[in-house]
Amino acid sequence: MAQLWGGRFTKETDKLVYNFNASISFDQKFYRQDIRGSIAHVKMLEKQGILTEEEREQIIAGLEGILRDVENGTLEITSEYEDIHSFVEANLIDRIGDAGKKLHTGRSRNDQVALDMKLYTRDEVEAIDELVKELLVVINRIMKENVHTYMPGFTHLQKAQPLTLAHHFGAYFEMFRRDRGRLQDIHERMNWCPLGSGALAGTTYPLDRAYTAELLDFAGPTNNSMDSVSDRDYLIELLSALSTIMMHLSRFCEEIITWNTNEYRFVEIDDAYSTGSSIMPQKKNPDIAELVRGKTGRVYGALVSILTTMKGLPLAYNKDMQEDKELTFDAIDTVKGCLALFTGMIDTMKFRNEVMEASAKNGFTNATDAADYLVVKGVPFRDAHGIIGRLVLYCIDKDCALDDLTVEEFKQFSEVFDQDIYEAISMETCVEKRMTIGAPGSAVMEQVIAANDAYLAR
Ligand code: ARG
Repeated sequence: MAQLWGGRFTKETDKLVYNFNASISFDQKFYRQDIRGSIAHVKMLEKQGILTEEEREQIIAGLEGILRDVENGTLEITSEYEDIHSFVEANLIDRIGDAGKKLHTGRSRNDQVALDMKLYTRDEVEAIDELVKELLVVINRIMKENVHTYMPGFTHLQKAQPLTLAHHFGAYFEMFRRDRGRLQDIHERMNWCPLGSGALAGTTYPLDRAYTAELLDFAGPTNNSMDSVSDRDYLIELLSALSTIMMHLSRFCEEIITWNTNEYRFVEIDDAYSTGSSIMPQKKNPDIAELVRGKTGRVYGALVSILTTMKGLPLAYNKDMQEDKELTFDAIDTVKGCLALFTGMIDTMKFRNEVMEASAKNGFTNATDAADYLVVKGVPFRDAHGIIGRLVLYCIDKDCALDDLTVEEFKQFSEVFDQDIYEAISMETCVEKRMTIGAPGSAVMEQVIAANDAYLAR
């Protein structure tokens, strides 16, 4: 049991207490960030005349040695230390002696852990943003290839109006683009350096907090030392943004699972992204899509968990906050895994354009356009709606589509029908005439795709 704080204690910590309190099993994840923060701190201490140049050099060399040895596997991070901060400091003292004991001057583990967690999650925000961007590149590629791939659009999971696969994927492009916006906002808001806040009330040493903030690529130092050590808002925001990403992935997965069924057959998930059954030889299951949908629950869980942990905490630091780590790490790893797998899955997925098009042709997806046809000919919309409704009923009875009726049959329902009805309700017309910005018409879709290209090139 290697602890940093034995002085005022007369007894050894109970073993169970030690284990319950320790965080090394999970906070070792940010050993790099811990060392990076310490190096910045030491540079600043020397600049301010608190350490000598020689002490600074000794400490930095010691820290760099620890980093190197952890990376090459010769130095193992073990549960003998309470947390990653103790591990680094104890090893430094072992290696360089007395100079190592000066590392923690003007610092507390409270500002140290706040810094480490911020440095770690800041990198992860950037990595996740990049993964979302890679997903957007694949979505936009599929959009480009499917501007004329007709499919039914649904409301209430009932066929509604025809649109295109490009339009459908375009909806997800917008969702994931907003997700990137959220990540970028969080990055900007979290990018203030807590180092130098001490335990809660700053320190009497003449620290240069602007200097350490600059060394660690922050926009500047935080403004209030109590807030600095007890702020976990950025984690709550991050987990909220991650939950939204998962919700989007989950909805997309739900659609792909449906489209991949024998009943729909709109898509076929690649063999490399499917799994079989131990008993039913014919099966090819969309397990990856289901797992992504399923894992949404644990990311939501992390958000609710940290919100609940934080809700009753008085200022400033409380040990409850140690609970922020495992759930955040798990959510980050889960989202990164899901994004990478999902992108690979849709990148290799086969689209059955003929099946989608045939599906769009039945189910009366052109009924709105048939009503609009009558409106153009002077029939008030509400009357037109009624006429087409009766026509649909007639077709259901005959088991045919509107397009299959003869002009004479149309005329039984309204005199204004003419030969031009077929052109007016063809799938191509139904889609192509929808040319307002945001609609599926190919002319406007091409504009959106060009704007997506420009956005992705930024
Ligand atoms: N392991 C602690 C955490 O994650 C580090 C800070 C400890 N500070 C303290 N005052 N006990 O929050």
